[in-house]
Amino acid sequence: MGRIHFGGDYNPEHWPEEVRAEDIRLMKEAGVSMVTAGIFSWALVEPAPDEYDFDWFGRVLDDLHGAGIRVCLATMTASPPPWLTERHPEVLPQDADGVRRWPGSRQHFCPSSPVYRERAVRLVTELATRYGTHPALDSWHIGNEYGCSNPRCYCDVSAADFRRWLRERYGSVEALNAAWATTFWSQRYGTFEQVLPPRTAPTHPNPAQVLDYARFCDDALLRCYLAEKEALRRITPDVPVTTNHMPMHKPVDPYSWAVHEDVQALDFYQDPYDPETHLGAALAFDVTRSAGGGRPWMLMEQAPSAVNWRARNSPKPPGTMRLWSWQAVAQGADAVLYFQWRATPGGAEKFHSAMVPHAGTDTRIFREVSALGRELGTVPQLAGARPRPEVALLADWHSWWALEQGSHPSGDLDFAETLRRHHRPFFEAGVECDVVPPDRDLSAYRLVVVPNLYLMSTETGARLTEFVRAGGHLLVSYFTGISDDCDRVHLGGYPAPLREVLGLRVEEFWPLAEGQSLPLTGALAGSGDLWSEAIDLEGAEAVSVFGAGELAGRPALTRHAYGDGVAWYAGTGSRVLPGLPAGVQATVRGGADGRFLFLLNHGTSTATVTLPEPMPALAGDGADPGAGPVSSVDLPARGVVVLQS
Ligand code: GAL
Repeated sequence: MGRIHFGGDYNPEHWPEEVRAEDIRLMKEAGVSMVTAGIFSWALVEPAPDEYDFDWFGRVLDDLHGAGIRVCLATMTASPPPWLTERHPEVLPQDADGVRRWPGSRQHFCPSSPVYRERAVRLVTELATRYGTHPALDSWHIGNEYGCSNPRCYCDVSAADFRRWLRERYGSVEALNAAWATTFWSQRYGTFEQVLPPRTAPTHPNPAQVLDYARFCDDALLRCYLAEKEALRRITPDVPVTTNHMPMHKPVDPYSWAVHEDVQALDFYQDPYDPETHLGAALAFDVTRSAGGGRPWMLMEQAPSAVNWRARNSPKPPGTMRLWSWQAVAQGADAVLYFQWRATPGGAEKFHSAMVPHAGTDTRIFREVSALGRELGTVPQLAGARPRPEVALLADWHSWWALEQGSHPSGDLDFAETLRRHHRPFFEAGVECDVVPPDRDLSAYRLVVVPNLYLMSTETGARLTEFVRAGGHLLVSYFTGISDDCDRVHLGGYPAPLREVLGLRVEEFWPLAEGQSLPLTGALAGSGDLWSEAIDLEGAEAVSVFGAGELAGRPALTRHAYGDGVAWYAGTGSRVLPGLPAGVQATVRGGADGRFLFLLNHGTSTATVTLPEPMPALAGDGADPGAGPVSSVDLPARGVVVLQS
């Protein structure tokens, strides 16, 4: 990208045209190099079917280009105009109880609707034809936060599309019956026509049906994206495409989408009232970067200060917006953008902060924003550099969809939370992680962590076994490798696909009561929560045993030397100890222009970090690039420093 891009959502339609000259002047003052424009402009550019009014939008693009600002141009399809749903009410989505979601907000479309897709593609074709060669065009921003408000639709249009999807997947109704274990509770289907989405039922729905519906719904959203992408590729084959994902958004699998994106984009809204907000961000940033195979990604949206959609919306205290922006860069982002440029006087987001607040530019927010824009402009050499973690955590959205259903041994297992708990000790120890799906090549990692991957194929089990045999270190936690792709239990003792490499068998699950914890004794003492299980050793050694309860004296944490590697197993939720000063984050990015160490202090007091060797400070607090190498850094609270390492 040639620089760390800086900017935000630009929605000029909220203002008279004469405001634009001031916008452009202020953007330059704030160091803005990129905006994403037109995100919700559909009703204005197409006021009636096939009647276009793009003149005003063309002038916006011309003015931005005149100021040297690049545009990630939105395809404008996230909020269908009133004429569309007036003519075609069947476009509106329905929930699992059959209740319609009406217009008047946004994303009020059924992802399976052929009418919506056809109208969206027409608009996108028009856009690409008009602006495909516009010099301001940097990339396409398709849709907006797919599945944020319409992740799953249960209407009749979706039902028909689901049946089509199932026919393609299974070929015959017999195969579907086998995959869904429909002999249970008399659910056997005679024809595909009898199959419905898992609408609200008297009690537990069929788990495989729910899992396939989650897959289908993700796929329906992806097909909306792909329909637009195809139209864009036809007309602008060389312009990169992306879409902005929400962090750890259960309905949308970032890994299956990533292969269709030229650059990953994430929206992340840190919550200043949450003292651990940076930990959630750290995980989401690692997922986003890893989805793209490690290439630089874009923080497409964050708030300059407060949002307006939490129960209580704290402004970002001084320094935190800068700190959290640098956090994205430290974890591999080459763009830091915001929602949105100028605060609007009306509409549902009038109390959301903006780069130019209601009170204007003589404000803390504008000063902090412009200082950051200028700061990020001073370090073009960071662009393109990549982190190279040696630890991978495995994450799998399909397993997530299968895990969190009723009818399981415990309702306390929350995949996102479990992943956070496994990611956190590495963050605190300054050890960088990738977070990758199970089918990735793992050979470059020294340690692979598998947190509660309930669904696991025998092939994945074999690959993990091979990884250890070849010298890798593997850490697997409880309730992993239990079911196959159709959520049918692997028989013969849990976790069947991993029993050989782990050197054990789990005979029975013993989930803990709400809030209960158990002491762990042995070489690694501590405590376990959420879960316990009856483990029989088959070659592994017990590193800790349960110190109380029904399983007292039986293994809790185990270690198995296997081939040239080692496989660890945790049969309970447990804790590990940190390394760096509390609250300090350390990451490395490397590329053609060198290797860069980022130190960020998320804590509330100054932290001193001793460096492994002296290195020059390039940017950030106390940095004086001319002063030569330093051997330690005093990082003020919320401080950031970038060193050449
Ligand atoms: C995002 C969305 C933006 C804006 C923002 C406010 O979810 O993409 O359009 O609504 O939230 O925080």
